[in-house]
Amino acid sequence: MEEKITRRDILAKAAVLGVGIAVGSAGTRIASADTAETGTAESGNKNDEPKSGEEPVMRQWPWPYVKLDPVETAELAYNGWYELGCGGTVVMSIFSQLAEKVGEPYKSFPDESFVIFEGGLGGWGTLCGSLNGAAMVCSLIIGPPTKDETSVLMAINTMDWYSHAIMPIYVPKEPRANVDGIVHTVSDSPLCHVSVGKWEKESKFATSSPERKDRCARVSASVAYKLVMTLNEWIDGNYHEEVTWFGPQKALMPAQYNCADCHGKNVPKAPQPEKK
Ligand code: HEC
Repeated sequence: MEEKITRRDILAKAAVLGVGIAVGSAGTRIASADTAETGTAESGNKNDEPKSGEEPVMRQWPWPYVKLDPVETAELAYNGWYELGCGGTVVMSIFSQLAEKVGEPYKSFPDESFVIFEGGLGGWGTLCGSLNGAAMVCSLIIGPPTKDETSVLMAINTMDWYSHAIMPIYVPKEPRANVDGIVHTVSDSPLCHVSVGKWEKESKFATSSPERKDRCARVSASVAYKLVMTLNEWIDGNYHEEVTWFGPQKALMPAQYNCADCHGKNVPKAPQPEKK
């Protein structure tokens, strides 16, 4: 369990999970990493109108990124949460600014479709919607993992960061509740249910309370802030994180890192490939 995981391992193991087959024809037409730079403010290339014979902009992947202000992003995410929920608001906080600065495909993209991520997808308490939204943003901006594993790496490390963070981190300029201070908790999990559950246990506030809503809005804002900081590093060529945890490599199956949270002391081992 101690071997170091490299970025390349994600790529190889993603194939084990079957990822790659699903990447369709749009993925195979990707230009190299410098595509991401075609939309920078310096180049002034507004990506609005497809030229005749060109692939429609929405089909091109990855999408252009320009650096954004983390605080502005977090404010948009905090306030947007009340309309779009945790997943939709993370997507909106980034894409609405890129719609202004870059244009298409962001202008036509329906951020609201990600309201469905709310409550760990439709209230089932699975992956926190803000992380689902962040992963989506990483994937569209960085491109297919079959070409560049950075999108998976960034999504993985965002989940790991979230799990260990003393949440919520971001303090909004005009909080709608918890004005005199807020209870902080560490979820030790990327799951909505666990994250909200630990906070409610500590704070004694119910899911329906304004305090819990403000907390989740702040968590979404924290994720949006962190994601923009990371994307800003990446577009500058300064993103060099290592893989924090990758289940298929470490546990030989898709898994979070915190086995004991669910399994207690007797964590089972996945069947070894040779014994198939
Ligand atoms: C979020 C909760 C959760 C986490 C975290 C988790 N598991 Fe599981 N895991 C389960 C559940 C529930 C099952 C189904 C158990 C069953 O049916 O016996 C399962 C099944 C398994 C199985 C196959 C069934 C068995 O009993 O052999 C293995 C192996 C396993 N987990 C290993 C791990 C390892 C290793 C980790 C950490 C790297 C981990 N799990 C993390 C909830 C979890």
